Amino acid sequence: MPKALEPLIIADREISIPIVQGGMGVQVSTAALAGAVAECGAVGTIAGVGLGYGTEENETDFPGASRRALQAEIRKVKAMTKGFVGVNLLGALSNFEDLARTAAAAGADFIASGAGLPLCLPALTDGFQTRLIPIVSSARAAAIIIKAWKKRYDRVPDAFIVEGPLAGGHLGFKPEELQPPRPGRLEAEVVEVLKVARDCERQTGARVPVIAAGGIFDGKDAARFFALGARGVQIATRLVATKECSVAQAFKDLYLKARPEDLVIIESPVGMPGRAIRTRFVDRVLSGARVPFKCGYQCLRTCNPAAAPYCIAKAMFNAVAGDIDNAVVFAGHNVSRVREIVPVRDVLESMVREAEAELQSRGGAARPA
Ligand SMILES: Cc1cc2nc3c(=O)[nH]c(=O)nc-3n(C[C@H](O)[C@H](O)[C@H](O)COP(=O)(O)O)c2cc1C
Repeated sequence: MPKALEPLIIADREISIPIVQGGMGVQVSTAALAGAVAECGAVGTIAGVGLGYGTEENETDFPGASRRALQAEIRKVKAMTKGFVGVNLLGALSNFEDLARTAAAAGADFIASGAGLPLCLPALTDGFQTRLIPIVSSARAAAIIIKAWKKRYDRVPDAFIVEGPLAGGHLGFKPEELQPPRPGRLEAEVVEVLKVARDCERQTGARVPVIAAGGIFDGKDAARFFALGARGVQIATRLVATKECSVAQAFKDLYLKARPEDLVIIESPVGMPGRAIRTRFVDRVLSGARVPFKCGYQCLRTCNPAAAPYCIAKAMFNAVAGDIDNAVVFAGHNVSRVREIVPVRDVLESMVREAEAELQSRGGAARPA
């Protein structure tokens, strides 16, 4: 029987397993996870946000500490694998430009960027082969990026990641669009972004694959998006629950215990809502308490440390360090489906198997006309 699942092609690279590991800050998706994913033949992503956090230099030289930590992670991952590994950068970072240049110069295979439209990204990576993948939550955002990049740089995105409202972390939706969660919204967004991407392909002759993200847990979920025309799916939550993910065991335990009712939407100093698992800290924040903090550097353009209710970088760092009572632990809507901690390879192989079977049962046609 012919294979129903096709490789994901991003610019000049063919990736045999069309699954992308979503970037997860602060220090959730480091080289350890990204390298393991890429070594299996899927796409690994190092999250560039907060990599210097926890080092002494971060307090005295935040940009330098962030830059050196990112260089070190890229070096580590390159020593682990020849697979396809890139860097995720939040547009809201105050050192976004520096980290984008650093990632490109250090040989990141791609940069994926969301939380703001990455309109200047091509200029920052000029002269490097870095593939550029904007993360969007609407077709409108995709169209704006295509228009601006064509006009300013005569180039098009190498792919789009479309992130829907069931994802973990910061979300490009209004809080009222997130609760109660609305299944089907990602499917609708993917269809709309596909129209924009196909239009762009027709006009330029370039290939602009669309990757769906948010709430995709197993191969059957993934097959729904392949059948719509997506060329890849991005997953994150499920990959935290792996042996290779370097977060503290307490973080993984929270995932294992999480029930649907433990998930909440919080307002983050990033200026966007985020989906997190309830912890003591999250309950305090939700009750309107302020957790004052000292900040020597302002890592986010969007944060005013004097007015922000808490430091999101510190709360996320506490999560990976295992200090759950003082942490914001982000997770996707489907975290309650996590049952066990397994090797990355098991997650990817089972997803491929299930997606293949589902697509075959739909008649083997992974692609709509
Ligand atoms: C713990 C955690 C941290 C995240 N951090 C980031 C981040 O730094 N940048 C980003 O673009 N997305 C971030 N995300 C979103 C993921 O990259 C991904 O798109 C999304 O969670 C996919 O949905 P899933 O978790 O349901 O698989 C984060 C998600 C989680 C669960």
